[in-house]
Amino acid sequence: MPELPFFANAAVSPERQFATIAEAKEWRPDSWRHRRAEQQPVYPDPEALNEALARLRRLAPLVTSWEILALRERLAEAEEGRCFLLQGGDCAESFADCDSSTIAARLKVLLQMSLVLVHGLRMPVVRVGRFAGQYAKPRSAEYETRDGITLPSYRGDIINGPEFTAEARRPDPARLLEAHARSAMTMNFVRALVDGGFADLHHPEYWDLDWVRHSPLAAEYQRMVESIGEALRFMETLAGRRISSFNRVDFYTSHEALLLVYEEALTRQVPHQWGWFNLSTHFPWVGMRTAQVDGAHVEYMRGIRNPIGVKIGPTATPETVLDLVRVLNPHNERGRLALIHRMGVDRIEKLLPPILAAVRDSGARVLWVCDPMHGNTEVLPNGIKTRRFDRIRRELELAFDIHADLGTRLAGIHLELTGENVTECLGGARELEEADLERAYKSTVDPRLNYEQSLELAMLIVRKCQARSRQA
Ligand code: PEP
Ligand code: CO
Repeated sequence: MPELPFFANAAVSPERQFATIAEAKEWRPDSWRHRRAEQQPVYPDPEALNEALARLRRLAPLVTSWEILALRERLAEAEEGRCFLLQGGDCAESFADCDSSTIAARLKVLLQMSLVLVHGLRMPVVRVGRFAGQYAKPRSAEYETRDGITLPSYRGDIINGPEFTAEARRPDPARLLEAHARSAMTMNFVRALVDGGFADLHHPEYWDLDWVRHSPLAAEYQRMVESIGEALRFMETLAGRRISSFNRVDFYTSHEALLLVYEEALTRQVPHQWGWFNLSTHFPWVGMRTAQVDGAHVEYMRGIRNPIGVKIGPTATPETVLDLVRVLNPHNERGRLALIHRMGVDRIEKLLPPILAAVRDSGARVLWVCDPMHGNTEVLPNGIKTRRFDRIRRELELAFDIHADLGTRLAGIHLELTGENVTECLGGARELEEADLERAYKSTVDPRLNYEQSLELAMLIVRKCQARSRQA
């Protein structure tokens, strides 16, 4: 493996190269502790924290190194235009929602969306859930004040509780172990469903979500399912047997690697492999608020062998993005680094092109992904946080156009969604209005697309890509 940074065109100073190599030698699962770590809780009882971490270090991992390497290969294929990434799930999972109906419904939405994408894009889809570990949240304010009382902000179930009491808001190390257990339960149920035929293409009716039968999109979806069924029967007739590989699909997990003590405790070496793996998830990402190139999160991420993502927000510049690419993928490896842009519909046209051009010209290999959710959050006058379907859709469409104009490839989408019939985002086929939001608003953090809005978005992506390829 080459020792030096790779860039074909970008100028890298000798000092910088030296620094990169020296730093690489020093990386350890805990070397992030020498850097500034944003968004970390302060545990009132450090002794209890150390005990919880010691127990965590002895617990079984949640994923394996060969699954991680298999995902890296799939992401490399996406980078090269041979596959599309669908990444989605809750903004934050909660311990209370680790139940069969919530998990199964989320899986169904992702399966149905992926079927729409496979059928429409004529391309395999790699499915990555924001689940089995998405328990830590970055917050813009350290404290929250209600009726004159100030308490620490809710930072996700792995850290504290959402109830507005001093007791719930105190960071509790026991939650680290609970998060590991809930992630394992989620993972176990997902694996059992997927291996047990839940994702069987011969039986797409298993994926039906009752409440959506009367949706304006149901007919279009039904037609697509019938056409897939016909294609399947045709192939099996040709083959003269039932094709068993259509019985199951792969699902991978992802979460924001925010709470570094947890990530460190699940960072392990495994027999017959070099290096270190984060075995709490297949595909960790760094959030926008913690993506400083010299910060603790980037330091942690650069040393693990998992494929990793970084959120790229409106304050990113071509220089900061190139710095991140250099540090996180110094050997320009395939399937290593996803850049997930989340600019917002009003800013993407101005901010994204210079970044795409700089990365393209550097010769760096990256997987471009669009998150059309996080740049489009707004707070209504009544205090409810929402997102408008039309703005989400428009940012995605603009992203496809901007990439095509610059000769780069948008190879994936990153969404916040749920299989439940919630009313958190405005608009969509059922034209949800402000008055509808209170009916079924469940998220304790960001508003999610409901099932119908998610499926509609998948159909719109297909239409957009088909229109583009007809133009080409
Ligand atoms: C998120 O994905 O939930 C999130 C907080 O995103 P970002 O870091 O892009 O704001
Ligand atoms: Co979010």
